[in-house]
Amino acid sequence: MELNGARVLVAGATGVLGGAITAELAGRGSRVALAGRDRSRLDRAAQVHPGAPAAGFDAYAPESCVRAVRETSAALGGLDAVVVAFGSVAFGAAQDIGDEVAEHLMAVNYLAPAAFFRAALGILRPGSAIAAVTGAVVDRPQPRMSDYSASKAALTTWLNAVRGEARSAGVAVLEIRPGHLDTGFADRPVVGTAPPLPQGGDPRHVAGAVADALEAGAELLRSGPDGSTVVERRAR
Ligand SMILES: NC(=O)c1ccc[n+]([C@@H]2O[C@H](COP(=O)([O-])OP(=O)(O)OC[C@H]3O[C@@H](n4cnc5c(N)ncnc54)[C@H](OP(=O)(O)O)[C@@H]3O)[C@@H](O)[C@H]2O)c1
Repeated sequence: MELNGARVLVAGATGVLGGAITAELAGRGSRVALAGRDRSRLDRAAQVHPGAPAAGFDAYAPESCVRAVRETSAALGGLDAVVVAFGSVAFGAAQDIGDEVAEHLMAVNYLAPAAFFRAALGILRPGSAIAAVTGAVVDRPQPRMSDYSASKAALTTWLNAVRGEARSAGVAVLEIRPGHLDTGFADRPVVGTAPPLPQGGDPRHVAGAVADALEAGAELLRSGPDGSTVVERRAR
């Protein structure tokens, strides 16, 4: 898709990666709309993109995800892409995580992105795209991150199934599957403490690759063995 002039909603624009993706898209001429949970961070993000519509939502309330799509679409006169860049993590042994936290991860990392995309698929026209951030845990589920890994794998599976439906409607489906990034995400778990982690990748590099992948109509963006970002035209 052509990003210059495209109307793109970034859900999770208040996060570090979401903010970098928003900045990259705006830099390529897209008309961005922002969605986020934290009101003050959302206001700050909106100040960086004057005139951009901004909608609040909470991943626990699927109707707020649908409302964010409807409101920003109305404000921009339609949408050409919806990028989901929000998420939540927990660390700990499976028996210690607890049902509430497991449910939280599934709600934030799988059900809420699916709610955004269901609303988007109802209005997107041929030539448009949906994109979501999962993570390298989809390929390599990590000990002490079982429910996080499972919630991201659920989203991958959903995207893979939907890709076939969306292709016939002319809508591209991009999965963004990065390795560890230097965003501080691992320091903000809902419970637990992150294991020692290597230096993370630069979220701005991933943001640039996301924009490249959207322009190319690619299906998968993942981290290579050397930490580089690899864009794959077809997901496997
Ligand atoms: N950093 C990494 O190492 C890494 C690696 C692979 C994949 N990822 C994925 O990348 C995505 C972005 O993370 P990040 O690294 O940019 O971390 P981040 O800066 O902490 O961003 C997290 C985002 O998720 C949002 N969020 C969390 N809980 C929410 C809820 N209940 N309702 C609505 N929004 C919620 C936050 O919103 P507010 O700020 O508005 O509260 C924020 O926008 C996540 O999906 C994560 O799983 C990260």
